[in-house]
Amino acid sequence: MGVLDGKVAIVTGAGRGIGKATAKVYAREGAKVVVASRTPANVQKVVDEITAEGFIAIGVPTDVGKKDEMFNMVAKTVEAFGTVDILVNNAQGFGTEENPRASTIPTPLEDTDDAEWDYTFRTGASATLWGMQAVFPHMKVNGGRIINFSSGSGIEGFPGNTCYNATKEAIRALTRTAAREWGKYGISVNTVNPSLKTDAWDNWMANNTDFVEGLKDKMPLGFLGDAEEHGGPWMVWLASKGGEYVTGMTFFLNGGRYMN
Ligand SMILES: NC(=O)c1ccc[n+]([C@@H]2O[C@H](COP(=O)([O-])OP(=O)(O)OC[C@H]3O[C@@H](n4cnc5c(N)ncnc54)[C@H](OP(=O)(O)O)[C@@H]3O)[C@@H](O)[C@H]2O)c1
Repeated sequence: MGVLDGKVAIVTGAGRGIGKATAKVYAREGAKVVVASRTPANVQKVVDEITAEGFIAIGVPTDVGKKDEMFNMVAKTVEAFGTVDILVNNAQGFGTEENPRASTIPTPLEDTDDAEWDYTFRTGASATLWGMQAVFPHMKVNGGRIINFSSGSGIEGFPGNTCYNATKEAIRALTRTAAREWGKYGISVNTVNPSLKTDAWDNWMANNTDFVEGLKDKMPLGFLGDAEEHGGPWMVWLASKGGEYVTGMTFFLNGGRYMN
């Protein structure tokens, strides 16, 4: 018996990092998981890992920056499992459509590139909105949980991260708006703001070593958390019984680096 038994969960960006960790812990808690991410080979690998453990998952390769693919992802989920109970809008693109990057490269605000602004927004705030719109008809009937992803970089305004900061704060605004509009349907909508060791973190650190090392030094708990070990239980709690009375909030999974 798992705490998500029978639930249907979509996790975007589940090919690596926090999304992959979330897909795996949800499946172990009994959810039927849709692994939705950009690179088909990564999607298949995660599906194989979950099914090898004896749990249920299907893969739907999805570029979250394309509205039709987001709606198709939800349609495929409903076709396979009948509904959707949990949506984790975790994916976030960096760089541009032509030149996607693994993380941000520090750029002064005055030099912000239009193509990067557009792509960061399309794969961030727009993708989050499209995902929420696509699941709404299903969650309106049975209630549901939506978990979106923001960043301390947006909240604190880390220098050099203009596009990323702006889209991540737009996601928090979308979260609060949906939480207020959809509470009457039993849909809770929250944002997670992580500091967890992933490829994106490592790539960001490679381009901002002193700054990022400095952030780690400000963590009172003294270590950078692991996506599955430290992020997983929190993601499960938000999606399970007990999380239903919490909505519109931002949760910080950051070793105490930022406190509110
Ligand atoms: N790690 C942290 O400490 C941290 C801090 C603040 C915020 N966040 C946020 O947390 C979320 C997860 O971050 P992470 O560190 O786990 O990232 P990650 O390790 O870079 O993994 C990102 C995943 O998203 C997928 N992805 C990227 N662009 C996509 C697109 N256009 N369509 C579909 N999938 C796409 C990638 O797919 P591929 O396999 O194809 O590359 C990959 O599987 C993001 O929203 C990020 O902004 C993370």
